[in-house]
Amino acid sequence: MSNQVKIFDTTLRDGEQALPASLTVKEKLQIALALERLGVDIIEAGFPVSSPGDFASVQAIAKTVKNATVCGLSRALDKDIDACGEALKVADQFRIHTFIATSEIHVGAKLHKSQDEIVDMAVRAVKRARNYTNDVEFSCEDAGRTHIDYLCRMVEAAISAGATTVNIPDTVGYTTPTEFGGIIKQLFNRVPNIDKAIISVHCHNDLGLAVANSLAAIEQGARQVEATVNGIGERAGNCSLEEIAMILQTRHSMLNLNTNIKSQEISRTSKLVSQLCNMPVQANKAIVGANAFSHSSGIHQDGVLKAQNTYEIMTPESVGINKNNLNLTSRSGRHVIKHRLTELGYQHSDYDLDTIYAAFVKLADKKGQVFDYDLEALLFFDQQRQ
Ligand code: KIV
Ligand code: ZN
Repeated sequence: MSNQVKIFDTTLRDGEQALPASLTVKEKLQIALALERLGVDIIEAGFPVSSPGDFASVQAIAKTVKNATVCGLSRALDKDIDACGEALKVADQFRIHTFIATSEIHVGAKLHKSQDEIVDMAVRAVKRARNYTNDVEFSCEDAGRTHIDYLCRMVEAAISAGATTVNIPDTVGYTTPTEFGGIIKQLFNRVPNIDKAIISVHCHNDLGLAVANSLAAIEQGARQVEATVNGIGERAGNCSLEEIAMILQTRHSMLNLNTNIKSQEISRTSKLVSQLCNMPVQANKAIVGANAFSHSSGIHQDGVLKAQNTYEIMTPESVGINKNNLNLTSRSGRHVIKHRLTELGYQHSDYDLDTIYAAFVKLADKKGQVFDYDLEALLFFDQQRQ
């Protein structure tokens, strides 16, 4: 089995569909170009049949992006698949992604069809999409709550019809890692033609498990992960692209799996998506939160200054942040104050560390966070007194 994991980005489709207001074509194009720079393998650019605006942005992205496969979403309906084919045909490489729900609750309560009818619709959709491209992805919506026997039947039928990627979504973020990994394992054990397609996973984060479930699936043989920048998406969002990419990079010696992600592009891509989507990133969000590389306690700050990996398992530079951020608060020790003053260009002989530190702690108790200009002011007043 290959040790390359494809990263399928759905920020512009599943991520964008959860925003209160749609992005403009220009904004989507800007994000698509950032994703191309980031090194994602596939960009799901939108859902062309859903609106003329979505059609236009999928087409614009298909025309412009050269170093990633551009993909459009369609239900298992002729008109959706035809709209995808039309919007994407200007691309160098494109994929049609067609889906239908497979869980009992969706098939019965939403689609009002029999299980046999659903299999027929899926097969027909995949075959129709193959008339446009030989890169066709099929998704079993709500696979996480689909009976495993029926899921095996659907996956086998989709691959026989010509699907080259079969996606297993945990649409409502219901499964646990052991359970979701078990589903992927059973598919590999039971579907006879499984080696003819790449198995993909698409996890939602309703229980905060989207990344953990995606990792469990990769460990069982999935070789495509669907994710969004900053984890944006329906409800609690999707698997966070930066988290899964940095897990595979940081734990490479254990997992031995590669992606094409250029991790130094992560921070700026995250900022762009946050800004254009008007979706602030929580400060303690892994990898891209404002605090992800800051150290507040004196013991941690002292440790990081002595050896970065005492409290950092990856460097800020590896995700495109220039340096770690040592917050100056009343918990900071002498060592960090001396270090910051040196960074600001002061020699140790310019000041008395004990005096400055005592003044710093007093100020920090009042202010909370002490900034560089505060430190410089303390130094200035100290020099005035001498
Ligand atoms: O969550 C989901 O099931 C989806 C599919 C359309 C892949 O977004
Ligand atoms: Zn989804």
